[in-house]
Amino acid sequence: MRLLGVNVDHVATVRQARRGQTPDLIQAALVCERSGADSIVAHLREDRRHIQDADVFKLKTALKVKFNLEMAIHPSVIKTALEARPHTVTLVPERRRERTTESGLDVVRDRRRLTVATDRLRAAGIEVSYFVDAVPAQIDAAIACGAHAVEIHTGPYAAARTAVSQKIEALRVERAVRHAVLRKLQAHVGHGLDYKNTARIARFAGVEEFNIGFAIVSEALFVGLPDAVRRMKRLIRRPAASR
Ligand code: PXP
Repeated sequence: MRLLGVNVDHVATVRQARRGQTPDLIQAALVCERSGADSIVAHLREDRRHIQDADVFKLKTALKVKFNLEMAIHPSVIKTALEARPHTVTLVPERRRERTTESGLDVVRDRRRLTVATDRLRAAGIEVSYFVDAVPAQIDAAIACGAHAVEIHTGPYAAARTAVSQKIEALRVERAVRHAVLRKLQAHVGHGLDYKNTARIARFAGVEEFNIGFAIVSEALFVGLPDAVRRMKRLIRRPAASR
């Protein structure tokens, strides 16, 4: 089965524009859940620019579906994760000035730090996924560190501007997914996926989970959140011919 994780950071971004209570993040997450989201994703950044610590605890309590907390290895964020105990943590690199996550983890370089953080999270009963570029060596290092899944960075594919470069990037993602699956690691994909570019990735065998935020929240402005989620859920279904 293909799973859809809906990232609700951008609902919180709108709320933080006025630093008030609306739009209600938990209500939005529950609407996504009722509309077919298989998990809810939220990124607690070190600068707390959108998701707040209190949101993490509220999401954990309110959701019936899996809660996937995206985060970098920062002491205050680790502390919140260990207290809130989301179902999954997706470890990502984080730069303060970036608009959104720009690249995958350098697992090969940061093996020691990642192993320590992964051990602590797993000891608390939390599954740990790593956000990595579509590079086999990074996937191999993720296995060595104890990750249960990798999320392959689809940003370069989404950003490709020509048919040729898009094809090359799609092929990289497909190979990375295959590399992970052959080594018994769950393969997730995410970043920059939208209503136009997701279908191609959905044809790849082995992708278990799609984590998508910006496109869904943007589309919701025009069609409403339930329809935006349902449409994406239909798109990630693998076409029958290539099953
Ligand atoms: N996966 C990861 C690891 C991310 O950092 C993000 C962005 O927060 C997403 C998925 C979702 O990306 P987008 O908002 O472009 O769909």
